Amino acid sequence: MRTWIRSLRPFDVLPVPALIERTTDFREAERFLRLFHAEHPTAGGLPARLRDVARDIARHGTYVHTFEELQFGARVAWRNSNRCIGRLYWKSLRVRDRREVTSAEGVALECVAHLREAAGEGKIRPVITVFPPDLPARRAPRVLNEQLIRYAGHRTRDGSVIGDPRQADLTALALRLGWRGGLGRFDVLPLLIDPGLGEPLLCNLPGDAVLEVPIVHPEFPWFADLGLRWHAVPAISNMCLEIGGVCYPCAPFNGWYMGAEIGARNLADADRYDQLPVVAERLGLDTSTERSLWRDHALVELNVAVLHSFEAAGVTMTDHHTESARFLTHLAREEKAGRTCPAEWSWIVPPISGGVTPVFHRYYDNPALTPNFVPRH
Ligand code: ARG
Repeated sequence: MRTWIRSLRPFDVLPVPALIERTTDFREAERFLRLFHAEHPTAGGLPARLRDVARDIARHGTYVHTFEELQFGARVAWRNSNRCIGRLYWKSLRVRDRREVTSAEGVALECVAHLREAAGEGKIRPVITVFPPDLPARRAPRVLNEQLIRYAGHRTRDGSVIGDPRQADLTALALRLGWRGGLGRFDVLPLLIDPGLGEPLLCNLPGDAVLEVPIVHPEFPWFADLGLRWHAVPAISNMCLEIGGVCYPCAPFNGWYMGAEIGARNLADADRYDQLPVVAERLGLDTSTERSLWRDHALVELNVAVLHSFEAAGVTMTDHHTESARFLTHLAREEKAGRTCPAEWSWIVPPISGGVTPVFHRYYDNPALTPNFVPRH
């Protein structure tokens, strides 16, 4: 398999890059620097830093974060992510500062290195790699994939999709750019990198950078015949890391999986892998009436299988009961630190057995705070 595919047909498929005219807002920078110094009382030098930053913005339209500011900004962006139930460990985020990497090849190689570091032989570590920000005069590179590892969705003639239907558009784009995918249900997509200026680059991920877990069931040997699997590292790559008025459009980050993300969504949703009817049939359930609760039975067995498989493979994964309890610990800690913890109820409550987890039975504050991860435009 070729690693690099340089597309010869860039301009008809990628949007024409808009010139970035926006300069950094000093008030955003100041707000962030005050937060940084409030949480690092021994750092010192705030007045001088504010003066330098004001001067840099006036001269160059933007300013450059120190490593300490970047590391803090990335960790607080996680802390402020109102949809994430797993924020208890926000301080442990490893920050890979790769702001000097400007080529598409460099971005691809660092994404591969990120995946190897994050997967840690199964002991998953939360990691973020920060590539250069957009500058007033130069658009930075971006990864077009929504996550570094995703499975292709091949549209067939009859309109159905083999693989992950959510990736059908990206798969079509990769094929147009010269990727030769297989026709499997779990083909790992290549990285699609928009260099900011110039031709897009495709990069096939080396196999050893993609840790995967075959899904088996602790009691039903037939479960393995379903041929299901999932990747170990969820690494979101299409969000902008926003710190102090600076947007880092390429800053892939990962945590570890909660089983229900795979067992109750990716493999279960009717518009994803839609496995509940298949599992129900193999379980011999009565699917002629909703009142048999065949969907619910199948859903539980699928989730048992996912949790069991990751455990058996020695790959970090959490379950939604443990994670819900941890989230409440996180809320209590944040409150004790004198901070509001923004949370979006409909995302925090797990997609299975919501009401038997403690996060269901309360409401949350939900102000939009920065630093944060925001949708990239
Ligand atoms: N739900 C997404 C997925 O199934 C991943 C989102 C991030 N999840 C995480 N545990 N950090 O791929």
